[in-house]
Amino acid sequence: MLVFKGKTDARNWVLRRRCRGERVGLVPTMGALHEGHLQLVRKAVANCDRCVATIFVNPKQFAPDEDFARYPRTLQQDLDLLRSAGTAAVFVPDDHTMYSANASTFVQPPRIAQPWEGQYRPHHFQGVTTVVSKIFNILPVTHAFFGHKDFQQAIVIQRMNQELDFGIEIKIVATVRERDGLALSSRNRYLSVRQRQQAAGLFAALRGAHAVFATGQRQAVALEKTLRDTLAHHDITEIDYAVAVPAETLEPVPLLPEKTITLLAVRLGTTRLIDNLRLDEPLPAL
Ligand code: PAJ
Repeated sequence: MLVFKGKTDARNWVLRRRCRGERVGLVPTMGALHEGHLQLVRKAVANCDRCVATIFVNPKQFAPDEDFARYPRTLQQDLDLLRSAGTAAVFVPDDHTMYSANASTFVQPPRIAQPWEGQYRPHHFQGVTTVVSKIFNILPVTHAFFGHKDFQQAIVIQRMNQELDFGIEIKIVATVRERDGLALSSRNRYLSVRQRQQAAGLFAALRGAHAVFATGQRQAVALEKTLRDTLAHHDITEIDYAVAVPAETLEPVPLLPEKTITLLAVRLGTTRLIDNLRLDEPLPAL
């Protein structure tokens, strides 16, 4: 597995593969890799001729009061995991390779970035669209893989890719979960034993809403009550949002369509967790 620190070497590697007509699949990450990230790599390996991953903890998508400084950095282990999952090349830039000191160009995210995460993390998606655009320009791949776990992020990137004509095929990969349903996340390692037990409440709430939706309930308020009651039952009281919305617009409506998604963001102590579930699709097997 090749490890590139510089942009030119990384770009030239992708361009050489493209010249041969190969399909190159990109998996952008912030490291601290787990099975969820590796699932994206496996999809890229299966669907493309080569997989290229990136590891970069992007300072521009963290607010000053967020966890940028304490975000886990486990580079050597990450490289071992990527290698064994079949990654052909990894781009690991440092901060000043990605951003010159006085960089002032940003990519304005699409409108779908405004609710939910956009409301609770005001500059977050601008940081994401800027860094992902840079990665798409540095690594002109054919395909890029993003997790359903960060559903709004995946949609934001799909729209940006369409509207700015990157011409990349964006694939969204199902969420990998623990046995009790907790979605794998680099941030789970911050949880205390007690908080880890409470965290099972997120999937319990999503599953509860899925069951109510399956009975034909289409009133958003009724589904949101199920979500909040289940979270309360698990002693989760700090809820940023717990909503059921149309999967194509993410805008609140009183009466839900068939293609509906529930979105959750909660805080357990200083750790913020997000999760989501499509209500019109079969419940994932754990
Ligand atoms: P990061 O949080 O490292 O996630 C990298 C990718 O892994 C994202 O597409 C995310 O949705 C996916 N992922 C995370 N947990 C997952 C799980 N349990 N199952 C499946 N996929 C999962 O998301 C980012 O980094 C950054 O915002 C980034 C896109 C790299 C831009 O900086």
